Amino acid sequence: MADDMATRGASPHIQTLIAERFSRRTILAGLAGLPALSLVGCATSAPAATSAGALPLFEPVAATLADTVTVPAGFRTQTLISWGDALFDGLGAFNPDTTNRADQERRFGMNNDMLALFPRRYFFPMPTDQDGYLLAVNHEYAGPEMMFPNTLAQPSAITPAQVETALAAMGISVVEITRTGAGGDWSVVRSAFGDQTHNRRITPFTPVVFDGPAASHPWVHAAGPAFNAAEGLSAASEMVACGTLANCAGGQTPWGTYLSAEENFNFYFSNIGEESAALQAARADVAFQRDARSFATPLGTAQTRPVPVQYNMATNPYGPALYGWTLEVDPYDPTWAPRKRTALGRRKGECATTALARDGRVVVYSGDDQADEFVYKFVSSGRFNPGDRRANRELLHEGVLHAATFAADGSGQWLALTVEAANAAVRAAGLPDGALFRDLGDLMVRARDAARLMGATPMDRPEDVEAIHDRSWVGQGPVLVVCTNNRGRREALPGSPDRAGGDPTIRPNLAGHILRLDEEGGDCGAGRFSWDVFALGGDPDQTDGVAVTRTGARVNVSTSVGDQVVNLGDRFACPDNVCFDSKGHVWIATDSSDGVFADCNDAVLITSVAGDGPRTVRRFLVGPVGAEICGPTLTPDETAFFAAIQHPGEGDTAGVDFAGVRWQVPGSRPPSSFPEGNGAWPKSAVVVVSRVNGRPVTD
Ligand code: FEO
Ligand code: CA
Ligand code: CA
Ligand code: CA
Repeated sequence: MADDMATRGASPHIQTLIAERFSRRTILAGLAGLPALSLVGCATSAPAATSAGALPLFEPVAATLADTVTVPAGFRTQTLISWGDALFDGLGAFNPDTTNRADQERRFGMNNDMLALFPRRYFFPMPTDQDGYLLAVNHEYAGPEMMFPNTLAQPSAITPAQVETALAAMGISVVEITRTGAGGDWSVVRSAFGDQTHNRRITPFTPVVFDGPAASHPWVHAAGPAFNAAEGLSAASEMVACGTLANCAGGQTPWGTYLSAEENFNFYFSNIGEESAALQAARADVAFQRDARSFATPLGTAQTRPVPVQYNMATNPYGPALYGWTLEVDPYDPTWAPRKRTALGRRKGECATTALARDGRVVVYSGDDQADEFVYKFVSSGRFNPGDRRANRELLHEGVLHAATFAADGSGQWLALTVEAANAAVRAAGLPDGALFRDLGDLMVRARDAARLMGATPMDRPEDVEAIHDRSWVGQGPVLVVCTNNRGRREALPGSPDRAGGDPTIRPNLAGHILRLDEEGGDCGAGRFSWDVFALGGDPDQTDGVAVTRTGARVNVSTSVGDQVVNLGDRFACPDNVCFDSKGHVWIATDSSDGVFADCNDAVLITSVAGDGPRTVRRFLVGPVGAEICGPTLTPDETAFFAAIQHPGEGDTAGVDFAGVRWQVPGSRPPSSFPEGNGAWPKSAVVVVSRVNGRPVTD
């Protein structure tokens, strides 16, 4: 994407602000003395906090390239469910070569990401004594290199049926699971397809309801019919058969629904054949141009990548407007059609995590996982009522969306994205009238554009944004903003060391960092916050503060600023999804940290949010070769830790992508055989980690 002022906006980059903040004051003043909080995260229940800063008792796992899930002594791992496992009785063994759309629609999807556990019987606050859960899972993507092991020779040879199969491997799975007592084995509960069951798949073909201010936006209106025609859904239907895709992280609400964020949806669109008059008209529209450029949808050149007709922008140019939303699903009620909650804005959403404001309004935090995009916060108009689940289910219909702007003095503001403010920014930027926002729905479709123009702060791929809340879901004020990295080489910004210290041979912030926000007055509904750096991706033992990656890139891995140490203990990089437990620990899952530290696969690490800095980090788990770790979560009693192992074998331990190898060398096998081992084709899977003695993993 062009890095001009029109796209970058007026706010200094977060790296500039961090640099200025560090230079103005002693970093430890911001990190020390964080209050010992009574915490609830990962939807856990919570007793009071333990001694400040204490970590669970375990011997940290050493760095490893082993092709398995490695956990500390005294812990055990179970693979709960893998790509292709049956969600219903009566299905045969999974065969990734012969699977088709109908088969995928009855099996666990591919590349599992977000995980959320819902007690089998809902009540509020979340009960801690159940052994049955509904596990909701996102399936982020399905690449041809990891599908059809023996029946696809080249990506160009993929058949229309195989493309549909790959799409059907994305979306969401809801799976009922149970265990045999604390510390016992977990299993999937199945019944026949069509029976009364909670198990289900939501795919890019599932009819959904567009809800909120953008529900009748002209782009949404124009794009829907091609999706409905392809699925045989009546043109008069109030639903759109576009389902959901590119489901990355998400969240869960206190009323027991699941939120799923649609991230890299642009990959699934193509521009094939003769361009329609509709596309030519769209291209002349300034707003459409800006949107297509922001999301990198394939407008510029004709392509040959096959997609179903509804994903062909040549004939259905507004198709991308149906994605980039947050989908709300009720795992307890399959008859309630999933809602695209357009009031939460459109982006490449990583997460959609919730907390209650002090007055009971619902707050949804989200990061937009693209370099130089923003952090968002939605605040509902209505208030949570613990006694009225049906009314709560409509709370995300209406509210105010905000984007974060950070100042170098450690303060910050939530910019309310209103039509008046956004249009004032359009005019201030001297843009043509075509860039104006027509109404709130238009603003939600083009939320990125509004946030950028209004001066939201560009971030280093903000992924998870998680607020600490108590057992009643009331946010306590602290919020972690997890920024994976920013590989982009940009021009020097005033005062910015961008973790390269001005050294052109060092990549800007390849290791990532985690920020801490503190909402004003400890209220997640606040309009202002203060902020500081919570942890820096890096290696505390690296004396010169520079690591060399396996591709030879030089990375700043210092975990200090000046002589102030931010974090100690085990090294980590590229933090992505996090969760809190009841004892004030934060569990950090990494994505692509093997691109920084050549001798270790992606991992899960634990640190504490309480106590004086510098904070100690310990490595709890290392994943198999080529996998990232997603969806960290705990059962409410904290005796089991769940994680999603995504894309095992996608790259090897030298950093070579399997996608490149497979199509060049016929018969190539991926460099991982997780979870089955013994040379089996790799599959993404959900793993459960527990203590051998059945005690909480957080002890
Ligand atoms: Fe899907 Fe941002 O990782
Ligand atoms: Ca991912
Ligand atoms: Ca992610
Ligand atoms: Ca990521």
